[in-house]
Amino acid sequence: MLKLAVIGGDGTGPEVVAEGLKVLAAVAGQEGFKYTATDYDLSGKAYLARGGDAKAQTIPIVTDAQVQELRGYDAIYLGAVGDPAVAPGILEKGLLLKLRFDLDQYINLRPVKLYPGVETPLKDKGPEHINFDVVRENTEDLYFGGGGFLRKGTPNEVATQEMIATRFGVERCLRYAFEFCRKKNTKKMLTLVAKTNVLTFAHDLWWRAFNEIGDAEYPDIKRDYNHVDACCMWFVKNPEFYDTIVVPNMFGDIITDLGAMIQGGMGVAAGGNINPQGVSMFEPIGGSAPKYTGQNVINPIAAIAAMAMLLRVVGDQKGDAVVRRAGERVEQAIVATCPKMKSQSAGRMGYSTTEVGDLVCAAL
Ligand code: IPM
Ligand code: MG
Repeated sequence: MLKLAVIGGDGTGPEVVAEGLKVLAAVAGQEGFKYTATDYDLSGKAYLARGGDAKAQTIPIVTDAQVQELRGYDAIYLGAVGDPAVAPGILEKGLLLKLRFDLDQYINLRPVKLYPGVETPLKDKGPEHINFDVVRENTEDLYFGGGGFLRKGTPNEVATQEMIATRFGVERCLRYAFEFCRKKNTKKMLTLVAKTNVLTFAHDLWWRAFNEIGDAEYPDIKRDYNHVDACCMWFVKNPEFYDTIVVPNMFGDIITDLGAMIQGGMGVAAGGNINPQGVSMFEPIGGSAPKYTGQNVINPIAAIAAMAMLLRVVGDQKGDAVVRRAGERVEQAIVATCPKMKSQSAGRMGYSTTEVGDLVCAAL
């Protein structure tokens, strides 16, 4: 029995999540495994309806009791976070980042994979060139929320925003990335992406830990290093170079949006917020797309790919080969579906959102 919590969230989130659940129902029926999907209405609209302020967070978006409840699931399936009626940052911090932190989902796994038949803006590159994984640290760095104001609102104001790298946080992320790379068993090359020439404290810690752990525990994995700015260049020029990337949180946020673009856009890119010892959360990495909401035109492939990842990761975590295989089959069904679509952009797919979900089910 697979126990899922579902957070459709804002904008087009619920629409794409519905397609992922449709595909789950189909594959579970075929493979013969049982699951439950429990809905949590944690949208911006729900927050406002409960009396939350649109300009500042006045009440919890997700309560501590709900977080406690979420610990009881095998995984969380998330649609999108962000509502134009609520000031930027409130829902992101109050829901997405809160869940990542409270549930200690310290890995953000983002495959950058160009599916066959999907258009990339990169000239002369195809699926054989764009196929790597980014392991982004997900709980530290600039995201931990340290800093503050001095003399706020005056001409003499000062703002600080702090970056942290803990030996513990860096090491657990590096070990996950080395293990992932070893298990994938392709080029067996792990690239650390950072900025050691400028961030000479935080990224020096990353650099030393990377080499120490690599030498001591992963002599079979080739180590490679890119400064983050150069990495952006290579994503465009030579994406085929990469196998697995490990990267601190903030730079990981930036390079994975670039990664999403070269793999065909936000309509196809999926990510997993993973706690290998706890509850993980899977999401399409595109936003809530307010202007497309309710029109049945948004691309659900990213959400379906997030479901495929959920099934693979949770299947592995629970040692359930049937669930793992279901995830692989959903991935194959996506591969079979993409070439039938005209484009991966909202409104130009040649199909509606629900029709794309149907196509994936048919391909199963
Ligand atoms: C992402 C997003 C989030 C992040 C935002 C919405 C807080 O950009 O998942 O990459 O910065 O991590
Ligand atoms: Mg991002």
